[in-house]
Amino acid sequence: MIRKMLKSDADFVYEIENQAFFEPWSKKHLIKELEGNSFLSHYVMEIDGKIVGFYIASHVLDEVEIFTIAVDKDYQKRKIASQLLNHLINSCKDLGVKKIWLEVSTKNIAAINLYTKFDFKIMGIRKNYYQKLGEDAYNMLREIND
Ligand SMILES: CC(C)(COP(=O)(O)OP(=O)(O)OC[C@H]1O[C@@H](n2cnc3c(N)ncnc32)[C@H](O)[C@@H]1OP(=O)(O)O)[C@@H](O)C(=O)NCCC(=O)NCCS
Repeated sequence: MIRKMLKSDADFVYEIENQAFFEPWSKKHLIKELEGNSFLSHYVMEIDGKIVGFYIASHVLDEVEIFTIAVDKDYQKRKIASQLLNHLINSCKDLGVKKIWLEVSTKNIAAINLYTKFDFKIMGIRKNYYQKLGEDAYNMLREIND
């Protein structure tokens, strides 16, 4: 089941973030965003009462930016990110969003493959975007025409 992220999910979301990212959002930051930022769109995938993945995106006018999408290591390669991305893209269509943007490390092959499968195109490269890791990022765009 995909449902809106709640404040009470912060611990589980943080756990997945912590496995996945070198610089995860702090729990405090996450809760602050959940409480306050009406532009954020945040959903979790729950299986048997357990949070196994989530996405956080920002929606302003007719554009969306994906900040994070991540899946618990034990649940990866089971199309959970695909279901989350489908959910996001369908919500975007309902809301009349025309462009979905994101940045992804040029070394993150799993994520690049995922986004490419969903018709995101590389628009440019941002040198040293992940400064602490010394990694570049691709700037990717999914246009919605239908
Ligand atoms: C990237 C990530 C979200 C994919 O989640 P997932 O649920 O395992 O992905 P799916 O099962 O839906 O896979 C969809 C497609 O993504 C690609 N993919 C997923 N995992 C992959 C891997 N380990 N290696 C190569 N390609 C991969 C494949 O194209 C796959 O399609 P296929 O199964 O037909 O080959 C997951 O690996 C993850 O959480 N990584 C850490 C966090 C992260 O890097 N997030 C993205 C940047 S914000």
